[in-house]
Amino acid sequence: MIEIHAKSSLHGEVTIPGDKSISHRSIMFGSISDGMTEVTHFLEGADCLSTIACFQNMGIAIERDHDTIRIHGKGLHGLTAPAQTLDVGNSGTTTRLISGILAGQDFSSVLDGDASIESRPMNRIITPLTRMGADITNENGNGCAPLTIHGKKLKGIHYDSPVASAQVKSCVLLAGLYADGETSVTEPVLSRNHTELMLSAFGADISSHGTTASIQPEPVLSGQKIEVPGDISSAAYFIAAGLIVPNSEVLIKNVGINPTRDGILRVADAMGGNIERLNCRTVSGEPVCDLLVRTSSLHGTTIEGEIIPTLIDELPVIAVMAAFADGTTTIRDAAELKVKESNRIDTVTENLLAMGGDVTPAEDGMIIRGGRALHPAQIHSHLDHRIAMSFAVAALACGGSCEIEDGECVNISYPEFYHDLNRL
Ligand code: S3P
Repeated sequence: MIEIHAKSSLHGEVTIPGDKSISHRSIMFGSISDGMTEVTHFLEGADCLSTIACFQNMGIAIERDHDTIRIHGKGLHGLTAPAQTLDVGNSGTTTRLISGILAGQDFSSVLDGDASIESRPMNRIITPLTRMGADITNENGNGCAPLTIHGKKLKGIHYDSPVASAQVKSCVLLAGLYADGETSVTEPVLSRNHTELMLSAFGADISSHGTTASIQPEPVLSGQKIEVPGDISSAAYFIAAGLIVPNSEVLIKNVGINPTRDGILRVADAMGGNIERLNCRTVSGEPVCDLLVRTSSLHGTTIEGEIIPTLIDELPVIAVMAAFADGTTTIRDAAELKVKESNRIDTVTENLLAMGGDVTPAEDGMIIRGGRALHPAQIHSHLDHRIAMSFAVAALACGGSCEIEDGECVNISYPEFYHDLNRL
């Protein structure tokens, strides 16, 4: 149980830990490259540690010195059969991306994780991988983990993905490394493009045109030095807190602002948020800046269409911002919220209602009528790290104290979250 007390202001600076998506990929791509990959500012969250453990179980030597990681890659065909089930913990990214790699190996493997993972949809990767010739069974027949993957020689395909999901896109592209010809994926709307940027830096022949990414098989990948930029999905909690807690000024340092991830900044601008972008630079091929956030009087907005994949993980905390804004905020086209670590349409609605918010859930989003003062309540995280952090932010501005049940689950993506928040 974590207790959060309302604050009359927040001041100071916070340096954001490494990006979760880029940290996962650095381990995976480093493992299947030749030579050493050195990763600095790696995110030491439980999800990324699950990815490390999976590759260690397949014979990859990975050394860890705090947030610096050294991966002794063994090339595209250097993984060995794991002696035990690969434990993906709570991590959807690990499960879906690693499946693409495992589908093309010359061994069999089993993937499993916690109760949340065992209820998240995996047919979205089983379908395209099976078209490529993969042999995957889901043990419980419900389209979820545990998954048994018998590695096969794969065929290159073109896949029209029904969902805008970087996990699906990345899974298919990674399987494409082991195919007999070109593999391409078209998504309905562009999702985060870290796989395309990073695989290219490792030496893959990969190209992107609009919402289609294409990859050639059997490249020689070479180890890289990667400095992981700060995770905008973690910065989001400090952005929201700086905007809604009165009399606040917060400098958020080292935030990755890749345009496929920066939707929260565009929404904050549209809501009247005062955010200055400072010290803009490029780190390991990714745009990065510092953000100076000041308390702002926010107003409602509509969030729909192409922006959704660029802020999908930030929607819970954007919903909290909306509850503190004047007027109505409508979120549409975000049915993906239902298949995250929790059903985030339900878990956001439940907790906002508990705090006295005015919210109506919908099939693909929610409508939040802001401007009501929220009051303290018992928060149910449902073991979802983003729900715990979003409602920690709401608690800071609710005029009392809130308890967050299982609030320790922030460990998944931001182990130092409460410590960093306390420093403000
Ligand atoms: C991720 C992609 C997103 C995001 C997840 C990380 C990634 O999932 O929600 O936290 O690293 O590729 P989807 O691809 O399923 O939208």
